[in-house]
Amino acid sequence: MLLPLLLLWMLFFSCVSYAARQAPLAMRLSCGALQNVQTRPTNTLWHKDFGYTGGIAVNATRPSYITPPLNTLRYFPLSEGPQNCYNIDKVPKGHYSVRIFFGLVGQSRDTSEPLFDISIEGTQIHSLKSGWTKYDDQVFAEALVFLTNDSVSICFHSTGHGDPAILSIEIVQVDDKAYYFTPKWSQGIILRTVKRLSCGFGQSKFDIDYGGDPRGGDRFWQRIRSFGHNSASDRPRSVETRINQASLPPNFYPETLYQSALVSTNIQPELTYTLEVDPNRNYSVWLHFAEIDNSVTDVGQRVFDIIINGDLAFKDVDIVKLSGNLYNALVLNTTVTVNGRILTITLSPKESNLAIINAIEIFEIIMAESKTISEEVRALQTLKKALGLPPRFGWNGDPCVPQQHPWSGVDCQLDKSSGNWVIDGLGLDNQGLKGFLPNDISRLRNLQILNLSRNTIHGAIPSSLGTMTSLQVLDVSYNVLYGSIPESLGQLTSLKRLNLNSNVLSGRVPATLGGRLLYRASFNFTENAGLCGIPGLPACGHHLSASAKISIGLGASFVFLFLITCSVCWLKRRQNILRAQQVAARAAPYAKARTHFSRDIQMTRHHNHGNTYTAAENGPILLS
Ligand SMILES: *[C@@H]1O[C@H](CO)[C@@H](O)[C@H](O)[C@H]1NC(C)=O
Ligand SMILES: *[C@@H]1O[C@H](CO)[C@@H](O)[C@H](O)[C@H]1NC(C)=O
Ligand SMILES: *[C@@H]1O[C@H](CO)[C@@H](O)[C@H](O)[C@H]1NC(C)=O
Ligand SMILES: *[C@@H]1O[C@H](CO)[C@@H](O)[C@H](O)[C@H]1NC(C)=O
Ligand SMILES: *[C@@H]1O[C@H](CO)[C@@H](O)[C@H](O)[C@H]1NC(C)=O
Ligand SMILES: *[C@@H]1O[C@H](CO)[C@@H](O)[C@H](O)[C@H]1NC(C)=O
Repeated sequence: MLLPLLLLWMLFFSCVSYAARQAPLAMRLSCGALQNVQTRPTNTLWHKDFGYTGGIAVNATRPSYITPPLNTLRYFPLSEGPQNCYNIDKVPKGHYSVRIFFGLVGQSRDTSEPLFDISIEGTQIHSLKSGWTKYDDQVFAEALVFLTNDSVSICFHSTGHGDPAILSIEIVQVDDKAYYFTPKWSQGIILRTVKRLSCGFGQSKFDIDYGGDPRGGDRFWQRIRSFGHNSASDRPRSVETRINQASLPPNFYPETLYQSALVSTNIQPELTYTLEVDPNRNYSVWLHFAEIDNSVTDVGQRVFDIIINGDLAFKDVDIVKLSGNLYNALVLNTTVTVNGRILTITLSPKESNLAIINAIEIFEIIMAESKTISEEVRALQTLKKALGLPPRFGWNGDPCVPQQHPWSGVDCQLDKSSGNWVIDGLGLDNQGLKGFLPNDISRLRNLQILNLSRNTIHGAIPSSLGTMTSLQVLDVSYNVLYGSIPESLGQLTSLKRLNLNSNVLSGRVPATLGGRLLYRASFNFTENAGLCGIPGLPACGHHLSASAKISIGLGASFVFLFLITCSVCWLKRRQNILRAQQVAARAAPYAKARTHFSRDIQMTRHHNHGNTYTAAENGPILLS
């Protein structure tokens, strides 16, 4: 009885672990889709649309044959704000390949191509370049990222050249050591895919079309038949011989990648690949080799140097020696700083040898941005709701990063001590805002300037404002704020400018604020319902606040009642005494004598800072 159960359990467990080993986490999203979609020929499952912050779902036009065969996309018109995001949860900490395919809105391929920026977790990873629809490897953006927060936020930033239109998002887990090249990898480095070339014969393909391992992240390999302009400088070569040491962790490069290559010719023994890149960046270059040319049969027959932008990157590369055999895969990687716009890789052979190369990968190394302190992000989100910020503000993603695209109206500063961004300025003046000021606004602890002037913000000034001690400028003029000015504002010792004018505020201006006027601070309290108590405003008492009036009224009534009660009591008591005296007069032969009290208070000498004075006072004479 127990044995079959145990066997079943073992079977189940091995299935689970087999599945876990075979299929890395892969989340694929068909943007704009109402239903899950399965695409041929690989039966890839695409999840229906979710996690977006806005946008409109429409039928898509695919710009390239390599674009996944999905029929819908989501686009983000400017009226929905300059930045919109997909926030996807349940992505466990780890290394991922994130790929975003772009689409075109409308039915024909010649609809204009939008240009926009893309960020992952606040770091800008891609900027679409005009003409992107014409190149197969530019119809998507891809980056290797390390995600730590069980979630990923992918944002699209308008640049004023058309609405971002997103066809699909793929988040595919890769090996934790994949593309490891420096100890800093995993600590805030993102690798943006610039180029992946498969040299020699064949077609442009994905790993999956190559029969490669899905754990590689399903890379797209663009075929390149020749590096040169004349066909005499190199020739393609391909074999069907099995390649050893391909498809291995951590990178799982498909075997087929090593079955074709470009080989230089005697006319031009050097092989040179040139790529136009963005200047002043660091690039990670990965070069793939396998000795598949039957003219080489042993170690020492093909030796070459690898020179990148004039610098020797690898000396005396002998593929057979380094990989251990013919038909063995060899991967070399190096990092280069490119100052100009050109990245040139030259394989320079020794003696009469020729050069060979199977594949090239080029990544831009991007330092991940630090993010905004999460407490301040939450405060801004609360403020967004309370003020009823219209969608055109597009307050999505991180407020401060990417630095190229901060939230509109938000000023940021890098906090040196925590290494995070903080909010130091907020300018939402003249924006037609109708909401109120939430208490949580005080969580913006680093705020120095707050300008909400010329809106229709109503309600009271929250007293929590008094804890925002960095505040130097507070301008809430021309709104409909009512109630009194909270005493706590007196604690804002850095305040240099306070504009509360043109509201419906009333009551006493806190004395501490009034006192500050002497110190070149500029405060404006004019045009309110009734503020009082500092020079330039009416004295308090003429304009009493409603609550003051009520309490004075209540107090007066109490005193009146008390007096009435007392007089009634006194009358009663007096009547009793008179009655008792009459009774006593009749009963006793002598009348009660009057009693005199007197008190003299003699104050003794006081010595006070050398001044001497004497006070003598005669106390009142109490009679009863
Ligand atoms: C989108 O495509 C579907 C069929 O693929 C069609 O029924 C629908 O009308 C299209 N919608 C628009 C807005 O063109
Ligand atoms: C990349 O090169 C460095 C040395 O430059 C090496 O330590 C690292 O293991 C290489 N990465 C891979 C995945 O081969
Ligand atoms: C490139 O790398 C160098 C050395 O590691 C570093 O000092 C520099 O800041 C990097 N440049 C960029 C643009 O990341
Ligand atoms: C992590 O993600 C959660 C939401 O998924 C967010 O509330 C939190 O602020 C994030 N933390 C950081 C450090 O980004
Ligand atoms: C706040 O914004 C208004 C414009 O709406 C401007 O006139 C005013 O000077 C600003 N206040 C401060 C203190 O800069
Ligand atoms: C104070 O505000 C009023 C309008 O409420 C304006 O007319 C006046 O010029 C302001 N005073 C100063 C000194 O800015």
